Amino acid sequence: MYRSHTCGELRITDVKKEITLSGWVQTIRKFGSITFVDLRDRYGITQLLFAENLNAQLDANPLGREFVLQVKGTVNERSNKNANIATGEIEIAVSEFTILNKSAVPPFSIQDDTDGGDELRMKYRFLDLRRNMVKKNLELRYAVGRSTRNYLHENNFMDIETPFLIKSTPEGARDFVVPSRMNPGQFYALPQSPQTFKQLLMVSGYDRYYQIVKCFRDEDLRADRQPEFTQIDCEMSFVEQEDILNMFEGLVKRIFKDVKNIDYTDVVERMTWEEAMWNYGNDKPDIRFEIKIANLKFPQHTFPSKTSQAALIDGVGFGVFDDAETVLAIAIPGCGEYTRKQTDELTEWVKRPQIGMKGLVFIKCNADGTYKSSVDKFYSPEKLKAIADAANAKAGDLILILAGAEERTRKAASDLRMYMADKLGMRKTDEFKLLWVLDFPLFEYAEDDNRWVARHHPFTSPKPDHINVMINNNPVIEDAAKYLEHPYASIKANAYDMVLNGNEIGGGSIRIFQRALQEKMFAALGMDEAEQHHKFGFLLGAFEYGAPPHGGLAFGFDRLCAILGGSESIRDFIAFPKNNSGRDVMLDAPSTIDEKQFDELQIKLNLK
Ligand code: AMO
Repeated sequence: MYRSHTCGELRITDVKKEITLSGWVQTIRKFGSITFVDLRDRYGITQLLFAENLNAQLDANPLGREFVLQVKGTVNERSNKNANIATGEIEIAVSEFTILNKSAVPPFSIQDDTDGGDELRMKYRFLDLRRNMVKKNLELRYAVGRSTRNYLHENNFMDIETPFLIKSTPEGARDFVVPSRMNPGQFYALPQSPQTFKQLLMVSGYDRYYQIVKCFRDEDLRADRQPEFTQIDCEMSFVEQEDILNMFEGLVKRIFKDVKNIDYTDVVERMTWEEAMWNYGNDKPDIRFEIKIANLKFPQHTFPSKTSQAALIDGVGFGVFDDAETVLAIAIPGCGEYTRKQTDELTEWVKRPQIGMKGLVFIKCNADGTYKSSVDKFYSPEKLKAIADAANAKAGDLILILAGAEERTRKAASDLRMYMADKLGMRKTDEFKLLWVLDFPLFEYAEDDNRWVARHHPFTSPKPDHINVMINNNPVIEDAAKYLEHPYASIKANAYDMVLNGNEIGGGSIRIFQRALQEKMFAALGMDEAEQHHKFGFLLGAFEYGAPPHGGLAFGFDRLCAILGGSESIRDFIAFPKNNSGRDVMLDAPSTIDEKQFDELQIKLNLK
């Protein structure tokens, strides 16, 4: 028997028991003739005491960090109790020990504040995984998965596996491809998601499907993106958008309860894509804090339903605003007394290439109701007040104003909003705020090809009252400069994203389920009949055989776990992640393959 207990199990009530433990040597401390060892396993740490009588044996078999050790001994009450660990009231008086395996000196220390850099820890990921904080992340991931399965099972969802060696499914990224030896010159694609399979399952009558499943996307990586990642992928038949929103709000609330013991009783907020873009400058706003963007001036075509407030700022000869396509303001609470040094620092921040603005205009809202700004010579106190009112600023606030080309300025305002919130501690990792963003545009304009692409994916259905706009209009864009005036630009999708603390944690849609509309959709995306048949003949065919109305969504499982764990980096929540260049540095993959494998596949490299 290797162990009678784990290293996290023994308590004061176990004193005098004869026990056996096995684990890894965390630390060794010698005090005169006595040696203390902390023994660690997945469950915790237990202090071992090697008395003088074992010294000769220890000298002959010296211990080292990360050795695998088995000890027999008696549980004793500790004289020096440690309230920080669960076993802190006891220690083991060792009577016998066996080194089960030695360890080389680990390349970094196996503790929370390790001295190992990122790449080193990735290379030795099996050692990094021994660290408590990484283990906690994986435990959290496991708990999220378990809670998900329980909830979906209770709601009649069935877990059905779908294949990995498939034909391309478009989710907007490049495919990873796998050559087929048995079909020389032909390739499988790894799924970017099981999208078409889950729709086929609906046609087959499995009306509630789910899968916690790997997806593969060859795209540029960021902290919240990995080339292979995991989705909680779901689909339902005979549902409308409202049914889906309710079901999956329920799932996330259940996860909050099971994993974090949080009763999320707030109504989950909803806003349209247009409101999100208007008020927050992006489609996944963090609404844990109140700051909103004020649109002082904007091109009327972007938000045709809003009235431009250009009159507030134009016509006083201030070229920066007069010449700008867009002018956006945010009022930062309580920063009205920022010093010159602090405002200069903000100007430098927006001038960085990643943000790309030319400068920043400030209005300080003094406590006495007056204003002090960097543009005093252009704007009268009345005008400054009107701008402050538009920005919803209060006494003591600092108004930051950005001006420039529309898209860049909007992104800059959104980034600045987040930067200031971080600076002011408004983005607390233990506070959670869910949001549905609804009514996304169905199409996006692809400048390079002068055509429409699906914003979500080509299986997403237009809003019912927009279907006719799609059917009755020609998708061709005659004048690229005026694409926003094309009727397709205004078509909204039956699509929704779930946002948690400023991160898109999931997205989905009500699907097209009639062949004719699906064909129209493919055609709108520039696919002729032959291409439609070649790529999606199977789906169009299936729609001929009684496809039910259906819809679904997928959560980014890694992202959800990371945010629940208080991080925005998903790598820490994946047992064996890839680095930023998509490499597994432990395996050294990707790597070249043998000549023989190339021969079998009948592939010849032609590296450029
Ligand atoms: P979508 O492409 O929006 O939808 O993906 C769903 C969710 O998956 C997460 N995600 C990622 N996480 C880590 N690394 C990545 N590279 C990555 N890409 C996406 C995001 C995202 O919200 N088939 C549709 C879903 C549907 O329509 O039902 C789909 O895949 O959190």
